[in-house]
Amino acid sequence: MAMDLLSFSACLLIIFSKSSTALDTISPSQSLTDGMTLVSNDGSFELGFFTPGSSKNRFLGIWYKNIPMQTVVWVANRINPIYDSSGLLKIESTGKIVLQGQNNTTVWSNNSTEVVQNPILQLLDSGNLVVKDGKDSNSENYLWQSFDYPTDTMLPGMKIGFDLRTGFHRRLAAWKNSDDPSPGDLTYGVELEGTPEMVLRKGSVKYYRSGLWNGDGFSGTPNLRSNPIFDYDFVWNETEVYYIYFLKNKSVMSRFVLNQTESVRQRYTWNPETQTWKLFSIMPSDYCDRCGLCGPNGNCDNNKLPSCQCLKKFRPKSLERWNSSDWSEGCVHNKPLNCQSGDGFITIAQVKTPDTTNSWVNKIMNLKECRARCLQNCSCMAYTNLDVRNGGSGCAMWFGDLIDIKQFQSDGQDLYIRVSASEAELSKKPKVMLAVTIATVIAMLLGLCVVVCYVCKRRKKLKDEPEDRNVNDKENQDQNEDMDLAVFELAMVAQATEAFSFNNKLGEGGFGPVYKGILANGQEIAVKRLSKSSGQGLNEFKNEVKLIAKLQHRNLVRLLGCCIQGDERMLVYEYMPNRSLDSFIFDQTRSKALNWCRRFQIICGIARGLLYLHQDSRLRIIHRDLKASNVLLDSEMNPKISDFGMARTFGGDQTEANTNRVVGTYGYMAPEYAIDGLFSVKSDVFSFGILLLEIISGRKNRGFYDPNHSGNLIEHAWRLWKEGRPLDLADDFLVETGNLSEVLRCIHISLLCVQQHPEGRPTMSSVVLMLGSENELPQPKQPGFLFYKKPLEADTSSGNDGSSSRNEISISVLEAR
Ligand SMILES: *[C@@H]1O[C@H](CO)[C@@H](O)[C@H](O)[C@H]1NC(C)=O
Ligand SMILES: *[C@@H]1O[C@H](CO)[C@@H](O)[C@H](O)[C@H]1NC(C)=O
Ligand SMILES: *[C@@H]1O[C@H](CO)[C@@H](O)[C@H](O)[C@H]1NC(C)=O
Ligand SMILES: *[C@@H]1O[C@H](CO)[C@@H](O)[C@H](O)[C@H]1NC(C)=O
Ligand SMILES: *[C@@H]1O[C@H](CO)[C@@H](O)[C@H](O)[C@H]1NC(C)=O
Ligand SMILES: *[C@@H]1O[C@H](CO)[C@@H](O)[C@H](O)[C@H]1NC(C)=O
Ligand SMILES: *[C@@H]1O[C@H](CO)[C@@H](O)[C@H](O)[C@H]1NC(C)=O
Ligand SMILES: *[C@@H]1O[C@H](CO)[C@@H](O)[C@H](O)[C@H]1NC(C)=O
Ligand SMILES: *[C@@H]1O[C@H](CO)[C@@H](O)[C@H](O)[C@H]1NC(C)=O
Repeated sequence: MAMDLLSFSACLLIIFSKSSTALDTISPSQSLTDGMTLVSNDGSFELGFFTPGSSKNRFLGIWYKNIPMQTVVWVANRINPIYDSSGLLKIESTGKIVLQGQNNTTVWSNNSTEVVQNPILQLLDSGNLVVKDGKDSNSENYLWQSFDYPTDTMLPGMKIGFDLRTGFHRRLAAWKNSDDPSPGDLTYGVELEGTPEMVLRKGSVKYYRSGLWNGDGFSGTPNLRSNPIFDYDFVWNETEVYYIYFLKNKSVMSRFVLNQTESVRQRYTWNPETQTWKLFSIMPSDYCDRCGLCGPNGNCDNNKLPSCQCLKKFRPKSLERWNSSDWSEGCVHNKPLNCQSGDGFITIAQVKTPDTTNSWVNKIMNLKECRARCLQNCSCMAYTNLDVRNGGSGCAMWFGDLIDIKQFQSDGQDLYIRVSASEAELSKKPKVMLAVTIATVIAMLLGLCVVVCYVCKRRKKLKDEPEDRNVNDKENQDQNEDMDLAVFELAMVAQATEAFSFNNKLGEGGFGPVYKGILANGQEIAVKRLSKSSGQGLNEFKNEVKLIAKLQHRNLVRLLGCCIQGDERMLVYEYMPNRSLDSFIFDQTRSKALNWCRRFQIICGIARGLLYLHQDSRLRIIHRDLKASNVLLDSEMNPKISDFGMARTFGGDQTEANTNRVVGTYGYMAPEYAIDGLFSVKSDVFSFGILLLEIISGRKNRGFYDPNHSGNLIEHAWRLWKEGRPLDLADDFLVETGNLSEVLRCIHISLLCVQQHPEGRPTMSSVVLMLGSENELPQPKQPGFLFYKKPLEADTSSGNDGSSSRNEISISVLEAR
């Protein structure tokens, strides 16, 4: 009866609130009992009593008002639950907030900073519960605010960090579990030791670091700035140091929360269509995000195997341990430093800056002063710019071992590390400073000499017909020691391939036939002889090839060099003994060689290779022709993507006079690409989805035939999915021997990738995440399969074994259907 009365009065109050806005505040003459709630003025947040998960205890908290699933963002009495419905919240006339529980005991209270005549407690639209002076109710001068006592959730506008004047510290602590809001041991906040940075701790262990704030963002998350959801800042001055974020679009709901069970920091955004929270990002998000994984002076690189590497000019401290994958002892200098007689520095490009515990920063010094200062102090091991904007300014230095460096492929920060003089990079321009005129004269003389020498050398070279020439320019030498792009002579290539004999032909790839060859030194190569139509000039071609050669990843086929003679253009690749993926998965007997475990590894490898092309390489390549025959297998069945960069380089509009051509292969093309010629990374994701379906089912999307239904493989997969028997898609022998939850997960991911709308498809980085975790996935929507019906079957696809690839379709053909 009492409960009924309570909820009745709550109802009345809610109705009342429609006409008046009074219900977002209480004053000392009022109180809030269990069953009643306060609702913020715009209706976005609600304050009241709740019971978390399967617990029976009551807590006072704040949650989102207008979404169906209760999502609590703040809890008052985290540690002291109320065991019945006797909870009562009031504000005393001194400004003290009191929460009472059973037997009128105080379970939680907080005092305002100053006494006012007429305090009121108000729930703001931001989700902040504040105490204000009732006389001055528009004031933003809060006497108390819940944003100062965050629990596990960071809302937009909340500051996580320190007030340096009072030492007051705001940090997040996760709920113990979804039934118990009391603080777990996972915390997130600013750490002041050395230079401030954000740190996620699990107990006393540093678990993830943000890296230094470099003006443009944290160095550990280099490309987060461009995200569509939120903008963020890190303020550090005499009075305060904190992290804060704001939503770019106020009508999007986004929250940032610590998750004890997963030991991660997650960001969710609300998806109004599915009425669910969508995981937007997660930290740590990959292996190398784990703090200090590779030990002192290690460098963690997700693209290498093993991921832990020593920094350049360093070696493992204990080889034995390092070889057994124990990185904890880290690395030491190859050659000992000698501070007195002078050390130098080398550049480590594109990294996350090391742990700042033993660091020092100065906002005014420039990079040169920074270097000089670091050189003077024998324990200074690295330096860099504090602010990378506008060409760089400020100085950050590290003393002692360098901990938790992570290698990025792009967008990271350059770090200069101390090495012995003999290993250092030459300092660029010390002499020039001495006497400008003399230097200029010398430089001119030198320049003349270089020109003369070059001409002489060239003459000589042309006469001598050298075996190969290195087109790699000098400037790359120190950074890419291992990148030797050779120019092969036509005679040599012809000899290697027995004059391009038919017997040596491996297949007809996207841009011309491919031949196997054996060089005089015994090395096996694959030669792609490009179709002659390309009108590219010599230098353009060389430049493009150099760019492609810079794309290096263990899941990409390695380009060894090129061959140019007359109008012949050839690319020379490493040879892959196991040929292409399609020769296995679509072959009755050979397919048995690839059990599920192997296939899953292949899937992950392809995903990583594609992610590298899309995101991590300097060029941001869209493949445009990803398919089974473009995935080659090395001797250990590791997948390597081939033909990348080709569309950009050779498939563009230079193809004769015919523009508007779509490069790609039927059955793999995303609808928006096939029809409108619109391509994006999401069209590659579509092709990846098809490839996944093919790997799982062992059947081709194109030419798929089901006796009982019409349609292609995607339609088939979608039908089975909707009928609740997705596993029927998989090849029988995989179902018998494979890891079913993995198979199912891959089917799920493939359907997400082939969704009709490009925006709905995940990016390759999400795909890689999805493959590697067991988090719940969103439901796939309608796939884009409607374009592959019969009329298109009558294509002109050339080629011998169905592995043929490039089909150029003019747009009118497609519109005609
Ligand atoms: C409430 O008070 C009664 C009587 O004073 C006592 O018996 C009971 O244990 C108290 N309950 C709680 C939860 O403190
Ligand atoms: C709690 O406080 C109310 C009002 O002050 C009083 O009427 C009631 O008897 C108290 N209950 C207990 C168990 O002390
Ligand atoms: C205010 O509440 C927070 C937790 O919600 C608590 O840590 C803090 O000690 C309280 N302050 C006072 C003065 O009671
Ligand atoms: C709360 O703060 C006011 C003003 O500073 C002070 O007068 C009062 O004693 C404080 N109350 C408690 C319980 O600390
Ligand atoms: C932690 O994350 C997992 C998976 O994302 C989710 O199922 C769980 O509800 C989360 N727990 C909390 C307390 O938010
Ligand atoms: C510190 O930064 C905050 C936020 O930008 C600003 O409000 C405050 O005035 C600054 N303090 C000083 C001493 O510059
Ligand atoms: C903000 O998001 C809403 C809902 O998603 C959308 O309708 C609106 O156009 C967006 N506003 C801006 C300025 O992007
Ligand atoms: C560690 O591995 C390297 C390369 O594989 C090898 O040369 C070296 O002998 C190994 N050292 C020890 C101590 O196992
Ligand atoms: C080097 O810098 C560290 C850290 O600032 C300092 O403690 C040490 O005294 C300096 N040593 C010299 C020789 O300047």
